[in-house]
Amino acid sequence: AGGNGSLGLLGPDSTPIGPHSPEVLAAERARTRTGRVVRRTLTPGPTTLDLAGRQVDTWAFNATAPATEIRLSSGDNLRLDLHNQLPDPTTVHWHGLALRNDMDGVPGLTMDAVAPGERFDYDFTAPHPGTYWFHPHVGVQLDTGLLGALVIEDPREPLAYDVDAVLVLDDWTDGLGRSPKAILAEQARDGMGSMGSMSSGGSLSATGTATRAQPIGEDTGDVTYPLHLVNGRPPADPYVVHARPGQRLRIRLINAGSDTAYRVAVGGHRLDVVAADGFPVEPVTVDTVLLGMGERYDVLLTADAGAFPIVSRPEGKQDPTGLAVLRTTDTARTPRAEANELDGRLLAYTDLTPTPGATLPPGRPDREHDLSLRMADGGRRWLINGRTYADREPLDVRPGERVRLRMENRSTMFHPMHLHGHTFALSRGARPGVRKDTINVVPRQRLDVDLVADNPGQWLVHCHNAYHGELGMMTSLSYV
Ligand code: C2O
Ligand code: CU
Repeated sequence: AGGNGSLGLLGPDSTPIGPHSPEVLAAERARTRTGRVVRRTLTPGPTTLDLAGRQVDTWAFNATAPATEIRLSSGDNLRLDLHNQLPDPTTVHWHGLALRNDMDGVPGLTMDAVAPGERFDYDFTAPHPGTYWFHPHVGVQLDTGLLGALVIEDPREPLAYDVDAVLVLDDWTDGLGRSPKAILAEQARDGMGSMGSMSSGGSLSATGTATRAQPIGEDTGDVTYPLHLVNGRPPADPYVVHARPGQRLRIRLINAGSDTAYRVAVGGHRLDVVAADGFPVEPVTVDTVLLGMGERYDVLLTADAGAFPIVSRPEGKQDPTGLAVLRTTDTARTPRAEANELDGRLLAYTDLTPTPGATLPPGRPDREHDLSLRMADGGRRWLINGRTYADREPLDVRPGERVRLRMENRSTMFHPMHLHGHTFALSRGARPGVRKDTINVVPRQRLDVDLVADNPGQWLVHCHNAYHGELGMMTSLSYV
């Protein structure tokens, strides 16, 4: 194996396949390409946003939160100029894409963080259609306005719809992530030296020294976010999806929150779930879906006449809700953020069957890895197999293997576990289940997922609660 000799993660007999190895380039060359090039620029920097009359300072891409969506077709080549105008180093990670490893945006694992004032050229083939998103992979930067939707269209789209709407759900910290947990994470970060060290290729921030941070209570989950935004808009000035009565809508729901799982429903409508984390499923009709942090669902519905609330309700918290509006008649009054459907039939992972083209073939794993998820030190550290990221033992795999990840949540909080660079299948008996890249492991649950190791490199595996990840709940899948 070629590789990044500086990683040194494994013994001498198992050299890691690093982000710049020939295997990574060979995998990129094997991807189907259209020959079309899509060019974009992302300039992360400080900005002031107006949230229904409330001026807030935050960080955003091109002064817009969420960023203007990036849309291309599978097989297109995205060339994106990242120009860092933040005071801190940053990266962009393409959440859910099985792309080339050196473009994955993880400092210390796949690239160096981009220093203030510097640039980085992202250049990769969009590997498969679906609903994805992008965000920095440095500290808790994603708890600012640094996030955006990435839609990869299918040149042979099998679904029929009239309107394609993207709704990005976000829990809003008022200011620059000044929630108690952000401060905790900052302290942890400062405890190990400045973030600037990452630009010279150091490890991810806030890992091994998190224990120096001040405790903020037994349960670090109950941060109260003052606002829940949908496409950057607060309930007082909601985002509106316009359609005509009887039209068919595809709504792409993206949970970009750092610390909030959202239950989503559309008043007066049922939802036909047609894709999970970008991958198509046989349609299932439900009243409501729950999205852990990082998860996506695409739903279809037929719009009735009027104005209907699209409500995002934080699961298990007392917070206010988020609101968008589906409007098909001009005269109907703006609805309140209430929907009985939120307490109707809730989608479960086991309701979902991938379409034949998206099904992982049945098979027995060549290798299994256990991931035991738990809290330590009253929430100052979050562990995978008893370790934080700084002390991690990578989950080694060999190219072509079928790998089972056996996750067990031994805590009382949700852990939406996300794997970079792959889409796994829920393992449930003989037939592999729904394909996903982020799966919400609920308290005391055991859950197995299977993947085929077909995208060489070094890939992060972590909890998408930004604070759990930052306080240690990350490891990596390492090709050797
Ligand atoms: Cu949304 Cu490590 O990713
Ligand atoms: Cu977690």
